[in-house]
This record gives sequence, C-alpha cells and structure tokens, in this order.
Amino acid sequence: KASPKIKEGMKAFNLSNDTLRKNMDLFLDNIQRGLKKDTHPTSIVKCFPTYVQDLPKGTEKGKFLALDLGGTNFRVLMIELDIGKCDMKSDVYAIPNELMVGTGTELFDHIAQCLADFVEKQGLQGEVLPLGFTFSFPLVQRGLRSGILVRWSKGFNIPEVVDGDVVQWLTEALERRGDVQIDVCAVLNDTTGTLMSCAWKNPECRVGLIVGTGHNGCYLETQANAEMFDEPDMGSGRVIINLEAAAFGDDGCLDFLRTDIDKKVDNDSINPGKQVYEKTISGMYLGELLRLYTLRFVEQGLMFGGKFADVFRKAEVMQTAMISNIESDPIGKYTNTTEILKSIGVTGASDQDMLNLRYICQAISTRSAHLVAATTCVLVKKVGEPKIVIGIDGTVYKLHPNFRRLMKEKMMELIGPGFEFDLMLSEDGSGRGAALVAAMAAMRK
Ligand code: BG6
Ligand code: GLC
Repeated sequence: KASPKIKEGMKAFNLSNDTLRKNMDLFLDNIQRGLKKDTHPTSIVKCFPTYVQDLPKGTEKGKFLALDLGGTNFRVLMIELDIGKCDMKSDVYAIPNELMVGTGTELFDHIAQCLADFVEKQGLQGEVLPLGFTFSFPLVQRGLRSGILVRWSKGFNIPEVVDGDVVQWLTEALERRGDVQIDVCAVLNDTTGTLMSCAWKNPECRVGLIVGTGHNGCYLETQANAEMFDEPDMGSGRVIINLEAAAFGDDGCLDFLRTDIDKKVDNDSINPGKQVYEKTISGMYLGELLRLYTLRFVEQGLMFGGKFADVFRKAEVMQTAMISNIESDPIGKYTNTTEILKSIGVTGASDQDMLNLRYICQAISTRSAHLVAATTCVLVKKVGEPKIVIGIDGTVYKLHPNFRRLMKEKMMELIGPGFEFDLMLSEDGSGRGAALVAAMAAMRK
C-alpha cells in the first residue's frame, strides 16, 4: 500500500460524485451558451459547427488523400472507400520541434513536402485527388473547405497562422511546389474524424472523443438546437458540433477542483490560462503532473530517501506513457517501474517507493478518466437517444491499462436511468473520417 502521507498529498485527485455532478452541470451550461446565437461568440466551450450535417451512409465511394495533423503522429494517407469497404495506406512523417514554433510557411511547406513524397511513393502523380485535412486545433469553419485557426495548442505556436485559413495555407504551399495536383476539399477536427469513422462501422455512434495528446469531444446535434448555425438543413436536420471541450474552465469555473500543481503545469505551459480542462486530462500534461507531485514528495523526504530531487526538477523528464507503463506492472512486480526509474537516473528505490509512485500515477489517471466520464455523460444525455455509441481515440485511452474501465464504471454511476451507451475504440485513426467528409464535400460541390 502507498504511505498515508502520499495518499493525503494526492487526496484532491479523488473526486466525489457530487463534485463530478457539479462539473457536469457546468459543462452543460457551457454547451447551452455555445449553442445560443447571442452567447456563442463569447462562449468558453466554443461549440463550433463543423458543417458536417450527416453521418456516413456506408455508400460513399472513391479514392481520397488525407492529412492527419495534431496528434502524436503526423500522417499522410490514401483511402479507398467502397460500399462496406475501406482500404487505407498511410505513412507517418515527423514534424521537427522547431517547425511547431517556427513560421507558417516552414510548417506548411514541410506538410506539402511530405504529401508530395507520399504521392510519389504511392505512384499517384498525375491523378487529381480530393483531400480531407484533419487539423486538430480550434477552427472556426465557414464551410467544409474553410477553417480559420483560433489558437494553437498542444505545443504548437505559430502566431502568424492564427486568424488565417489553414486550407489556404496548405493550398498555397502546394501551389509553391507545383508538382502535386490535389483538391483540398474538406477540413475537419480529429473528433469529427473519429465520430465519422466509427459511425461508418456502427450507425448508433453519436459522439467522437479524443483522449490523447489533447482532449476534446464532438457530438451530433439537432440542427434546430444549434441556434448559432444559420445554414440550410441538408436533409438530416442535424449537424456535428466540435465542442473544443479543452477550453472548459478557461474562465476559472473549474478552479474548485484544480490543485496548485495543476495551476503550475498551466503557468509553465506554452499557453497559460488556455485549454485548462485538457491540462487535467490529456497526454501532453499528465506526465508533468506525475513529475511535479513526485518532486514534491521527494522534497518532503517521503520518497527515494529524499534523494534525486534534481532529476525531478527537469521539465518533462516524465511522460504520460510512463503512467500507463507503471500501472501496467502486475501488483508486486516492478519491471516497468524499475526500468523507467533507471532511464531517468533514479536507482535504489524501495518497494514502498514503487508503491507510492504507482499510487500517484493511479490518482492522476483516475481523475482524468472520471472527468472524461462526467462530461461524456453530459453528451450522451444531450443527444438524448436511449442507446448510443461513443467513438474514442487517443493514446491515453488506448494505452492506459484501466482508462476504459474507470471511465465506463464512472459513467454508469453518473448517467442515471434511461440511457445506455457503449465505448467504441476508433481503430483506424481519423483517416477514414477525413475521407468520408471529403466525399460529402465532393458531392456538395
Ligand atoms: C489518431 C487520429 O488515431 O489519434 C488523430 O488519427 C488524433 O486524428 C489522434 O489526433 C489523437 O491521439 P494522440 O494520442 O495521437 O494525440
Ligand atoms: C486540442 C485541440 C482540439 C483537438 C484536441 C484533441 O484540444 O484544440 O481541436 O480535438 O486537442 O486532439
């Protein structure tokens, strides 16, 4: 068992159902503000209409390219859709760190270069292919083909792109090269890609979630409820809303559950005061929470004999993957934990240290899963159908040994009678979703 003082130090991570219900009420209130015409422009949870006004029918056909930027991996894909069939080829390309904080031209030239390389490798030169661009940052859309960047997140910061249309940035970069013929016909968020991709497999899917580098959700809303979306109904009477849930709490409404260390992680980040909810949940930040709590306990002499404080003073020395790996060790065996400690230069840890470290990891991942559970319940109820499927992607959800179970159990406690739900892992990323939205856009042309 973990030491009582460690447990005491992590107590704030143990959220009661009352606290989670308060979180749910606040989240619903934020969504209502986001949907109303008069409060939409100033709403913290943005509720951006995606212009995706239906779910896939399964009859979509064609050959598409897709870009997937904003998660752990930048991918270029080729997708062939046919009735009930989807064939995908993809390559992962690196985005060097300096390009994440460089100039717009450098970033988009690099993206265009990767695309050109992929097109050549796949022998697609000469074909003019429609492309779906999964761009997983907050975008105000004016249509399926236009996305104005509101702000960067997740370690990217290229001010000159903010307020610009990312489709235009991409198109211009491709024109500068002149060697690839591509029709960028849709831009979408990764949550939309996830929802579309899962709905293609399971027509009961209504919500798309990401718990990865960042955190966000989208859901299928009745168009009449999306007051701020003044566009003709495309026949289904519905529209997907990209919540940009990460910004929940940016107005301070979640300060009652944030700890001093949550606030430090936020202050030390590239975007202080922004994406507050995400910073308690997602992969970009959980490793830092682990490091800072461990550092605190080392400084208090409660772990590692009070030694190695300098190791833990180094920003980002611990990553979220370590939480998943530490918690994956069977009880009483510390293979991963020992390996991880060794990799950062901590030796001679006692069994009690191992248990304490595991406890800190559990506290952090459980709070994350419970927060996601609470806000997902709000979406299930908002959709209001008796049974729905939630499509989920992201490394935290996929790699953590207990995240799914913790989330599901808490949802069952919080959801209340009359609602059934299922959590569906999105197994093929947003690629198929991007192709489906591109197919929709091509039909509307
Ligand atoms: C991938 C999707 O599978 O998951 C991306 O294709 C998405 O669109 C990503 O951004 C999210 O997870 P992570 O952990 O890579 O940020
Ligand atoms: C960040 C982005 C959001 C994206 C999420 C998951 O919160 O702002 O657009 O969906 O990360 O990748």
